[in-house]
Amino acid sequence: MRVGLEPGRALVTGGAGFLGCHLVRRLNADGWDVTVLDDFSSPSPAAADLPATIVEGSVVSPPLLGQPFQLICHLASPASPPRYLLDPVGTLRTAAEGTRQMLDLAAESGAHLLFTSTSEVYGDPEVHPQVESYPGSVDVRGPRACYDEGKRYAEALVYAYRRSERHTRSSVVRLFNTYGPGMNPQDGRVVTAFISAALAGKPLPLFGDGSQTRSFCYVDDIVDGLMMVVDRQLPGPLNLGNDVEISMLELADAVQELLGRSGRTFVPLPDGDPKVRRPDLRAMHDATGWRATTDLASGLERTVEYLRAQT
Ligand SMILES: NC(=O)c1ccc[n+]([C@@H]2O[C@H](COP(=O)([O-])OP(=O)(O)OC[C@H]3O[C@@H](n4cnc5c(N)ncnc54)[C@H](O)[C@@H]3O)[C@@H](O)[C@H]2O)c1
Repeated sequence: MRVGLEPGRALVTGGAGFLGCHLVRRLNADGWDVTVLDDFSSPSPAAADLPATIVEGSVVSPPLLGQPFQLICHLASPASPPRYLLDPVGTLRTAAEGTRQMLDLAAESGAHLLFTSTSEVYGDPEVHPQVESYPGSVDVRGPRACYDEGKRYAEALVYAYRRSERHTRSSVVRLFNTYGPGMNPQDGRVVTAFISAALAGKPLPLFGDGSQTRSFCYVDDIVDGLMMVVDRQLPGPLNLGNDVEISMLELADAVQELLGRSGRTFVPLPDGDPKVRRPDLRAMHDATGWRATTDLASGLERTVEYLRAQT
């Protein structure tokens, strides 16, 4: 149901990525004229036939984009640990300089800006589940800081622009682990890593003893939530995800239930890997009535179908 923002011209940065492709299709279906700005450093296989004008370039030094936008969905960022650890300085620059560029563009166009932050701003949390008021526990010296602290800085910039004389309108959403069709099979995130291994008949790679937990949300639910936030222009920060929390051992069980037993291999826990992760969703639910509706088994089934077709 639409309650606020009328469709016009939308810019989606990172629109060629996993989440971006889903969001671009939804915006297009809702009547938005979409432009994608993406440097194609980690595109989704689903980016080939997007209903959008595609501009190749970085948010750090964006090319001229023409007409003003009414909405800027700023998703561009390396998002999987192997990807952001490849270029920590570039990751920080994308968060800092890229977000400043998009905020300036939003201020010039009078656009509403949606910023996709992350549960990683909570670091390795001492408060569980994570509520938006929890300031987080991030180690600035750790290897993951390029992503975690980059997103924290970018959030701070969004709030500063809001308070500035330009009063830039914006929404901040903190996404928890999202999965589904369109993920890059090689991106190193746990759902794709497990399914790809099982499809290849290889052991599933588990970090540590596999007891660390995450909460996985199916991509269609996330896009529904993003659209509600945009439509109502909710400032946030709002957690968005699924609050069903499972261990990596349980995720491996769920994947192997679908694809058969191919064994498991245990590898050392990466530095700074959070032990637990579950969103407190009350703020999002109270503001919009949104809840994730796709259960893990059906979401995994659709993801398996998609990844099988990729191999
Ligand atoms: N998927 C998740 O579980 C999750 C969880 C929390 C937050 N997020 C956030 O959501 C956003 C989208 O994530 P995703 O899962 O689709 O990741 P993704 O890697 O699939 O997509 C990111 C896209 O951004 C592009 N990109 C990277 N740096 C860029 C730059 N400097 N200029 C222009 N484009 C650039 C990449 O080419 C890619 O197409 C990211 O901001 C990520 O931090 C995602």
